[in-house]
Amino acid sequence: MPRYNDYDFSLLENVTIVNADSPANDIYKEETLLTVEVGCGNGHFLTAQAAAHPDNTFCGIDLKSERIVRCMQKVRAAALENIRFIVGDAMLALDKCFADGQIARIYMTFPDPWPKKRHHKNRLFKPEFLDIVWNKLKVGGDFVFITDHEEYFEWSKAFAESDSRWDITFCGAIGENDDREYLTQSLFGEKWKREERDFYLLEFTKK
Ligand SMILES: C[S@@+](CC[C@H](N)C(=O)[O-])C[C@H]1O[C@@H](n2cnc3c(N)ncnc32)[C@H](O)[C@@H]1O
Repeated sequence: MPRYNDYDFSLLENVTIVNADSPANDIYKEETLLTVEVGCGNGHFLTAQAAAHPDNTFCGIDLKSERIVRCMQKVRAAALENIRFIVGDAMLALDKCFADGQIARIYMTFPDPWPKKRHHKNRLFKPEFLDIVWNKLKVGGDFVFITDHEEYFEWSKAFAESDSRWDITFCGAIGENDDREYLTQSLFGEKWKREERDFYLLEFTKK
């Protein structure tokens, strides 16, 4: 396990840092076919997507700067030019860095489940979060949420089903035999697929 000082933070030179005091930032103003991952971790999934889809633009957001250093190492190694990263809270970053109706797809893959009831307030999936996701997606844009945590899935499903602004296109369990990309390209997806866990998927489209 590397220590904090072992990370090469100079790789963050061109990475946007967002906090509560940051001004609005329209770095993605001109972009179309934009895919965003919130809580992108070490960037396994999103860098694989960027390599597979060179004509699209990708943006990963994560709270932890050392994870974004890992992402930037992958970007350098693969010489990717269609992907950027933001260090910061996902809700703040979505709010400040993107125009309303701009994003084609938002992924949230294997977010921290915060299983204890007293910690549920820390979960990213909540009505305020869904409001921001809805605002930033294009009409017809998708939000994809995947977790291995059944109770977190049920909690999220209840919010989604009570919100008439969405068409729910998939809502349920998928097995380890499912070959969707995010089960093999995400670090957690890949690990848990090997462990033959069940996964839960919510896919919905902005009406
Ligand atoms: C369990 S990891 C999953 C990483 C990746 N999506 C994957 O599937 O491999 C969850 C990630 O979400 C990030 N995270 C947690 N809360 C966040 C927030 N409010 N805003 C942005 N990132 C967040 C964490 O730092 C962590 O890297």
